[in-house]
Amino acid sequence: MSNLTVPAIRGRKVRNGDSPLVMVTAYDAPGARFASDAGADLILVGDSLAMVVLGYEDTLQVTVDDMAHHVAAVARARPGAHVTGDLPWMSYHVSEAETVQNAARLVRAGAQSVKLEGGRKRLPMIEKIIAAEIPVMGHIGLTPQSLHAMGGFKVQGRRYEAARQLVQAAKAIEHAGCFALVVEGVPAPVAEQVTEAIDIPTIGIGAGPRCDGQVLVYHDLLGLQDRLAPKFVRRYADLGAASVDAIARFAADVRSGAFPADAESYHLTPDEAAAFGIFGPERSGG
Ligand code: KIV
Repeated sequence: MSNLTVPAIRGRKVRNGDSPLVMVTAYDAPGARFASDAGADLILVGDSLAMVVLGYEDTLQVTVDDMAHHVAAVARARPGAHVTGDLPWMSYHVSEAETVQNAARLVRAGAQSVKLEGGRKRLPMIEKIIAAEIPVMGHIGLTPQSLHAMGGFKVQGRRYEAARQLVQAAKAIEHAGCFALVVEGVPAPVAEQVTEAIDIPTIGIGAGPRCDGQVLVYHDLLGLQDRLAPKFVRRYADLGAASVDAIARFAADVRSGAFPADAESYHLTPDEAAAFGIFGPERSGG
């Protein structure tokens, strides 16, 4: 379990001299181990799972079952980072009881907190989850679960009134008790205003450099993603190309007979070979 507690995260503000929070998504045990070994502060088991792992066009297709399955895989790696589970679309929209049960499922699967998308209209659900002792991370701006309502994956808060509403929503979300806030897909000066306006940390994605932390999707960061990456993505590796190259070399070796080599094969001892009545000299051991 993470050494970084929710109260410690809640207090992290760059303006107070704290270092920015580093969050990365992960969806399975190896990814969680890599993120943890690399020193990430938080791992988000994001509903981006739908697009980067499960092959859907948007995030609307994943269910609480899907999310719990992947939260559990991440938690089994026992990462040193704080694990946040993303509540999928329709898991916190219907009733308060269902919302709390769904958040609890992610906690029972191994999450230490949950994240949900949306502004003021989500306040009652945020309060209910927090009342059940489950820490909540907010998420405003470009909220992918609102894809159809927004008319596409579009930068939010470009106009004065929309920007003002984002700042108001951030304040309300802080007041409701969230311990951190993801700010996605908004102009950098607007994210800066949001960050200034609240005492909980903002974690930006496509929100410029003045947030209290940054998050990237694992597959974007490592170049494992085949879709066109948004402008805010910085690729730190090209593991997609490295994977194709490695598998192509394996295929070539299989086809040429170069794989497996003798050292990659199991052998019979002389006695075992004799019992089989086999076939010339067998090396012993291995
Ligand atoms: O699902 C996700 O990966 C997210 C991040 C992009 C913040 O919500």
